Amino acid sequence: MTSADTDVATRLVDEARTRLERCATLDELRSAEAELVGKRSALATAHRALGGLPPDERRRQGQLLHQARSTVEALVAERRQTVARAERQRWLEADRLDLTEVLPGPRRGHLHLVQRTRDELEDVFVGMGFVVAEGPEVETDWYNFEALNIPPAHPARGMWDTFYLQIGEPETVLLRTHTSPVQIRVLQEKRPPVYAVMPGRCYRRDTPDARHIPVFHQIEGLVVDHGITFAHLAGTIETFTTAYFGPDIHSRLRPAYFPFTEPSAELEITCTICHGAGCRTCSQTGWIELGGCGMVDPAVLGAVGLDDEEWTGFAFGFGIDRCAQMRHEIPDMRILLDNDVRFLRQV
Ligand code: PHE
Repeated sequence: MTSADTDVATRLVDEARTRLERCATLDELRSAEAELVGKRSALATAHRALGGLPPDERRRQGQLLHQARSTVEALVAERRQTVARAERQRWLEADRLDLTEVLPGPRRGHLHLVQRTRDELEDVFVGMGFVVAEGPEVETDWYNFEALNIPPAHPARGMWDTFYLQIGEPETVLLRTHTSPVQIRVLQEKRPPVYAVMPGRCYRRDTPDARHIPVFHQIEGLVVDHGITFAHLAGTIETFTTAYFGPDIHSRLRPAYFPFTEPSAELEITCTICHGAGCRTCSQTGWIELGGCGMVDPAVLGAVGLDDEEWTGFAFGFGIDRCAQMRHEIPDMRILLDNDVRFLRQV
């Protein structure tokens, strides 16, 4: 073996190593591979030249070239692994999405104050062991009035100015004036014990003013179980009041009348503006009316086929918009419907 022959093989391998190191992509590697070990490569040319050599010499040089080719092929395979890994890494980097990125431009949306208030009220009651139920906004006279112990032409109907729909017989289908019909739907679906709150939109033919809007929201509460008393009602209301409005805000119940509860009460809370001292918002009384409540009237239990000797319960219903108004000190409730972006934008 002459050193010149070894030199040729070593040089071919060295050149191949340098050439391969310059390859950064799989495409580049493919053409380098063709140049280094393909038909027109220096290795192939050297191989072809073996034919003109004497047999001994041919075998010797043939072995050297063969070894060189194996080494180069191994180098190509090794380089292919490195390049493929790097290429995949670059691809992943380029494809990465930064989900925490805050883009300049339009602000992100958020829930309307009324929806947020509804969610928070639900949370308070769910925390007290209530389930959440819903009913339709379009109701029949039976659910909205009759089953709630308000027969046709009963004077108490005047408590709710009703929007009727022109469907079926006149004045049989309406937009619900309160969430109380959902009490009936819940009791039809599930036997007691029942502990449920029922939030939703209601409609009344009211002229809008600072404290009334014709489309508003209520959350109804209903408990029916063995041995439920007025004390349970008062305790539930007080627990809710301090949980939602804070420890310095309290509730009080004042005698009132609703056809579907007996006895009935108006539910009031400490005025959040003056904390009970008296101000213009609460007409100097220190209290704000949130809604109504009372013990479920036996006639209501009868309407859904429950034995009023066995079961007793309480119900309440109050304004979600009113809660938002009290908690956030909103002077005029009409702003909730105005879609004034300066109001909506406030989180
Ligand atoms: N539904 C009554 C109203 O909207 C409020 C109420 C609910 C009163 C439940 C008593 C019991 O005026």
